[in-house]
Amino acid sequence: MDEEAQARADVWKYAYGFCTMRVVKCVIELGLPDVLESHGSPMTLSQLSSAVGCPETSLYRILRFLTHNGIFKKLGSSTQDHVSSVSYAQTPLSRLLTRDNMGPFVLLQAGPPGQQFGLSAKDLKAGKGSGLEAACSENIIWKPEVDEAYDKLFQEFLACHARDSTRAIIDYCPEAFQGIGINFDRPDVVSEAPLIDGIEHVGGDMFESVPKADAVMLMWILHDWSDSRCIDILKKCKEAVPADTGKVIIVEAVIDEEGGDEYTGARLAIDMRSWLQR
Ligand SMILES: C[S@@+](CC[C@H](N)C(=O)[O-])C[C@H]1O[C@@H](n2cnc3c(N)ncnc32)[C@H](O)[C@@H]1O
Repeated sequence: MDEEAQARADVWKYAYGFCTMRVVKCVIELGLPDVLESHGSPMTLSQLSSAVGCPETSLYRILRFLTHNGIFKKLGSSTQDHVSSVSYAQTPLSRLLTRDNMGPFVLLQAGPPGQQFGLSAKDLKAGKGSGLEAACSENIIWKPEVDEAYDKLFQEFLACHARDSTRAIIDYCPEAFQGIGINFDRPDVVSEAPLIDGIEHVGGDMFESVPKADAVMLMWILHDWSDSRCIDILKKCKEAVPADTGKVIIVEAVIDEEGGDEYTGARLAIDMRSWLQR
């Protein structure tokens, strides 16, 4: 396809891109990937419909959309009138959308109820979101009182991220975890942390002080804050570690605009998301 023709097809992705996100959110909430996973083999539309409590007609349309996008696989052929012989199976992508995998992580991106993350042309023209200051004066994401259900989802989201990223760090940089001793977070977070041998949970406010240690690792912390708040956090980390040998290890998405790999799009999206959430 020539470039012009490809562009005419691609522009629809931007017009209707929000549909993908909404439909994916919906199937995670329905627990469709979890139902298929625990069933262990393909399921018919009617089996799926009764398992998730959603009418077959709606489910059929949702699954038609998702199978086209590589989320779930359709086995057998169908017309809208003859769908009973069709069954649906997991794909590597739908498997990632279960509740104990990346499901909560994806769900959270819809934001807290009643709050739309976003940056407008008006904000941009006013110089907001420049990276030097947040688009609004406070970081709204750390207000768990927004909604109890959202707070619960947030905890599941963090658990997903910790499972996924920590595994990668342990694989690639095992030395970063040698002698790890303190888990530092807000008091309300550490008060619910499970006891783990060799780990001391310390509650506090990183803008006031960070516990003394040989090294501090900030994983996915800085991207939530404006540049000036990041400087405040980093100063507290510097005070916490020995002046001559201390280390502050930062785990964040590093964007390589020129080179890049299959995750460059995801890193750029994280950058946009961090920007828009403020
Ligand atoms: C995006 S999460 C990252 C959590 C974890 N490091 C990870 O990578 O999954 C940011 C963390 O910062 C914590 N946090 C927010 N404000 C804080 C503060 N003022 N002092 C200490 N921790 C804070 C939150 O409770 C949350 O656990």
